[in-house]
Amino acid sequence: MVDPVNVGLGAVVVLVVVAAHYATGTGWEPPADISQEVIERRAESVPETEFPEPMNRSIGGAGAGAIPAGEAEGELGEGEDADEEDAGFDPEAIADDEVEYYEVEYAKEGETIEVANNETILDAAEDEGWDLPYACRQGQCVSCAGQIQDGPALDYVRHSNNEALFDDDMEEGYCLTCVAYPTDGFTIESGEQP
Ligand code: FES
Repeated sequence: MVDPVNVGLGAVVVLVVVAAHYATGTGWEPPADISQEVIERRAESVPETEFPEPMNRSIGGAGAGAIPAGEAEGELGEGEDADEEDAGFDPEAIADDEVEYYEVEYAKEGETIEVANNETILDAAEDEGWDLPYACRQGQCVSCAGQIQDGPALDYVRHSNNEALFDDDMEEGYCLTCVAYPTDGFTIESGEQP
C-alpha cells in the first residue's frame, strides 16, 4: 500500500530541492570571450617570412595583408619591379586603327586564334567557347594563370594589372590571362599556375 503521508513528504522534499536549486543557481559562469586572445597568441607563434606565402595570393597575400606597411618596399622588390613594368597599360587607350592581332596557340585546346592587343587572353578564349579557369578577373589572384611556352611572359604580353605574379614567375612564362594582352604571337598552356 502506498502511504499518502510518505508520498506527500517526498513531494515536499522534491519541491524544496528544486526551489533551492533555482534560488542558488549552479554557480556556472560563462567564460569571457577569449577568441581575440587566442588569435593574437596564434599570430605570435607564426614565424615571419621574407615574402608573402604563395597560397595567400588569392586573398591578397601579395599585398599589405601579409607584410606590414613600410617593410613591404624592400621585401617585395622583385614584385614591385614587375608592377612597374606592367602598370599603367590601358587597353582602352588603343585607338581602333592601332589595334593589332597576334596568333596565340592555346596548347591544351589544340587551336591557334588571333587575339587583338586590346583583348585579354582569357576573353579571347571564352569567345571561342573554351572554359578557362578564373576567379577575380582583376589580376589579384592566380586562378587564371597560364604559362607561355616561348619564354618570359613579358616578351609576349603586358598586364593591365598584376598583383599576384612575381618577376620570377613571369620569367618562367607565367601570366594572368584575365589581364594579359598580347604583344606578340606565342603558345600558352592554360590553367598552369606558378
Ligand atoms: S582571375 Fe584572378 S588574376 Fe585572373
